[in-house]
Amino acid sequence: LSVKKELEKILTTAPSHEFEHTEKDLDGFRKLFHRFLQEKGPSVDWGKIQRPPEDSIQPYEKIKARGLPDNISSVLNKLVVVKLNGGLGTSMGCKGPKSLIGVRNENTFLDLTVQQIEHLNKTYNTDVPLVLMNSFNTDEDTKKILQKYNHCRVKIYTFNQSRYPRINKESLLPVAKDVSYSGENTEAWYPPGHGDIYASFYNSGLLDTFIGEGKEYIFVSNIDNLGATVDLYILNHLMNPPNGKRCEFVMEVTNKTRADVKGGTLTQYEGKLRLVEIAQVPKAHVDEFKSVSKFKIFNTNNLWISLAAVKRLQEQNAIDMEIIVNPKTLDGGLNVIQLETAVGAAIKSFENSLGINVPRSRFLPVKTTSDLLLVMSNLYSLNAGSLTMSEKREFPTVPLVKLGSSFTKVQDYLRRFESIPDMLELDHLTVSGDVTFGKNVSLKGTVIIIANHGDRIDIPPGAVLENKIVSGNLRI
Ligand code: UTP
Repeated sequence: LSVKKELEKILTTAPSHEFEHTEKDLDGFRKLFHRFLQEKGPSVDWGKIQRPPEDSIQPYEKIKARGLPDNISSVLNKLVVVKLNGGLGTSMGCKGPKSLIGVRNENTFLDLTVQQIEHLNKTYNTDVPLVLMNSFNTDEDTKKILQKYNHCRVKIYTFNQSRYPRINKESLLPVAKDVSYSGENTEAWYPPGHGDIYASFYNSGLLDTFIGEGKEYIFVSNIDNLGATVDLYILNHLMNPPNGKRCEFVMEVTNKTRADVKGGTLTQYEGKLRLVEIAQVPKAHVDEFKSVSKFKIFNTNNLWISLAAVKRLQEQNAIDMEIIVNPKTLDGGLNVIQLETAVGAAIKSFENSLGINVPRSRFLPVKTTSDLLLVMSNLYSLNAGSLTMSEKREFPTVPLVKLGSSFTKVQDYLRRFESIPDMLELDHLTVSGDVTFGKNVSLKGTVIIIANHGDRIDIPPGAVLENKIVSGNLRI
């Protein structure tokens, strides 16, 4: 009850032009918070989790083998591409939206996305729009940049996800005293995860607009996944299902390796496909959950969702997503919680959901500068906004790269490489401490470079390091 009162107080501070959307946001928050308070015990019962039945996760090759129909343009015209663009570049030491970080030849994530869709529209003479789900953290900067694409053959729309108040962990009351989110209140609000897409897309009116225009599916993905391009075979499978029964929700999953044991996995639960995240797993079963043999695949967050189904379920208030409780400590030391949801968790609410096991190349996320080094290197070539693994690479796997903390911020990372090394024959790179790379360095096999505290290692221009450990003045 006291939360309700606090929220009402906050709402009274909203200026008239912000009143309506603040009211919607606070109302959404109130419902989520209410559900959080009602929750007793874990959100899944481990005993009920089953391996998904054989035909509920189809291999991509099978989908591709069906080929493409002649009318692929008219199929494409029923698609809307949505990129999740609420996140900041903070973990890579950047200010502003993550999507505006340069990732390849001066192109940002957003540039590459626009190039991909423009290429599609030009090739097939179509009109596939791009929609960005911004957050209050990214909206202003993103909109400023959008002018740059005025002459591109892609219509770009934006809508804002909700803005929810962070809650004091002890008192369970909002930290914010009023609606502002600058000054004292900078840390008092948060974007509540990408699961917010259903409500905020619906509330923005865009969902109805697109349905009115004859659009039928959205392809949703993380803007930092460079592998999330529009796949015509999957789209065709959705629009022309072999058994005549349309899927309302497709989740692209890919095979786990030992490096990605933490990703959410698809399971069968009470007769439906359900995404289970590691945070939901009881401690005693975490190893079983992580095992590559029992749960072989994980969610790439590339999702294809029926617009009509989103509308129906949203209107019935029937989209059910587990609450993720994310504890944080604010700059001043205050412990807070933020309640979030994940877009893929809604799979269980849709009819006839399907997993498609796609090649690893459709999952190319850039979360760290180590990932950035890979996508900037000659391991990939860039074609109309899409990155593909170079044919000159002999094995299809990417090298394992671990750059140390001196490389965490994009600015530091860029300063430390005069040019990006040749990595075509690299298997494993570990760099730690104060290390710089001269121009045209070549890295092959396993290379480990460790500068101890107080030391500095400059790899000279043109150096070829093959199966080498470089440490202090010691070279082996
Ligand atoms: P995350 O930062 O959540 O990445 O953002 P993650 O933890 O690797 O991935 P998930 O959550 O398991 O998928 C993933 C994408 O979602 C957007 C980010 O901008 C990024 O593109 N995002 C995240 C939002 O749009 N809103 C949010 O509230 C959170």
